[in-house]
Amino acid sequence: MENSKLLKVKNTGLVLENARVYTQGKMRRQALYVDTHVRSEPAKNAESMDCKGMWVLPGFIDAHVHFRVPGAEHKEDWKTGSMAAAHGGITTVMDMPNTHPSTTSLAGWEQKRAVAQRDSVVNYALHFGAAKDNFEEALKVPGLHSIKMYMGSSTGNLLVDSEPLWEKWFELCQRNNLVLVVHAEYEALIQDHSKSFTENHARVHSKIRDSEVETTALEKALALQARMGTKLHVAHVSSKEGLGLVREAKSNGRQVTCEVCPHHLFLTEKDTERLGNLAKMNPSLKGKEDVKALWKGLRDGTIDCVATDHAPHTLEEKSKPYSEAPSGVPGVETMLPLLLNAVHEEKISLERVVQCASKNPARIFGFEKKGALEEGCAADAGIVNPKKKWTVMGAQFYSKSKWTPFEGFKLTGAVTRTFVNGKEVFHD
Ligand code: DOR
Ligand code: ZN
Repeated sequence: MENSKLLKVKNTGLVLENARVYTQGKMRRQALYVDTHVRSEPAKNAESMDCKGMWVLPGFIDAHVHFRVPGAEHKEDWKTGSMAAAHGGITTVMDMPNTHPSTTSLAGWEQKRAVAQRDSVVNYALHFGAAKDNFEEALKVPGLHSIKMYMGSSTGNLLVDSEPLWEKWFELCQRNNLVLVVHAEYEALIQDHSKSFTENHARVHSKIRDSEVETTALEKALALQARMGTKLHVAHVSSKEGLGLVREAKSNGRQVTCEVCPHHLFLTEKDTERLGNLAKMNPSLKGKEDVKALWKGLRDGTIDCVATDHAPHTLEEKSKPYSEAPSGVPGVETMLPLLLNAVHEEKISLERVVQCASKNPARIFGFEKKGALEEGCAADAGIVNPKKKWTVMGAQFYSKSKWTPFEGFKLTGAVTRTFVNGKEVFHD
């Protein structure tokens, strides 16, 4: 975990007064004392900030973003991506390696890190990309948390689709205590289905990349995990059946965790009729029953994290015919608001949201003193107005994409300020 440049900023300390603060597992009416960290008492000369009517939440840790550096800065860069994250109450992002070139070497990793260090207003960590022949490079990276492996093709060219290679990466991660994050879609089936479903409209996407595409890859990944004992993190689980496999593995006490994305919770494949390519992403949107199962999994603890899979593309790129349009949707500016709205509608408890968006990702990826507002933890926090009503409008967002699949959603609950290491990085 890297701290952003903001750590160098002199900080005299703050007292957040009259708020309701999420700490020690629940909401408490208390003041919060911070400098760069959470303190047990106010710092000398601390300024006071009235937070009446607001909730102070631990900053969200988004374990899955694509900030597009290097190679596709016209879609996003670290300035716009991290500002967008701050706007969404996210104070730490973990960036994916499917860039151009891919982040599959120590040199590439260091170059990306230098840009993030210079430009990011939030904390960050970088996932390293699994390729066919870069095992030794992975081991050279200092302080690495995780490897990302694409078992099925997606944006970029980081496909690892052979069983012997999967096995090698599972083994490497196990031996070096790294988390292996998998994109679990089975490539041979995707190819097969692409021949059967040829209509050039986004509605075929959920047929080509159906639940079976996910479960087939997951069965392979979970079997390898059982054999090797690797810490396995399943990215963006999207289907009822896929979640069932994860649930079964977890019930055996294995080191398996998973995440769900907002688009898989708040949209179904039906939305593709309305949204076209703006609803094209991998894994695809699934049906109503799948969405119901994902919500249940989120509530009952089967799902450990929510992560955005923030994958910006331009409207121009998305306007191409289905077969040429890239997969992926932006998400960092809408995740927390959508979840706050779900809390407002009593679909989920605030406690569960904070666990899945702050506490659990910190635990899974080994970020110490993160993901909670307790003494000694980094002062990463989002201040939200739980009553504010607003309408989602992508054109007003910081992300370069300027669109969102949640356009027009009427939400209750909005981020008003975001603090990273005690420094305000967003104020609405
Ligand atoms: O829809 C997706 N978009 N899924 C991925 O796995 C990659 C992402 C991207 O980078 O565009
Ligand atoms: Zn992704």
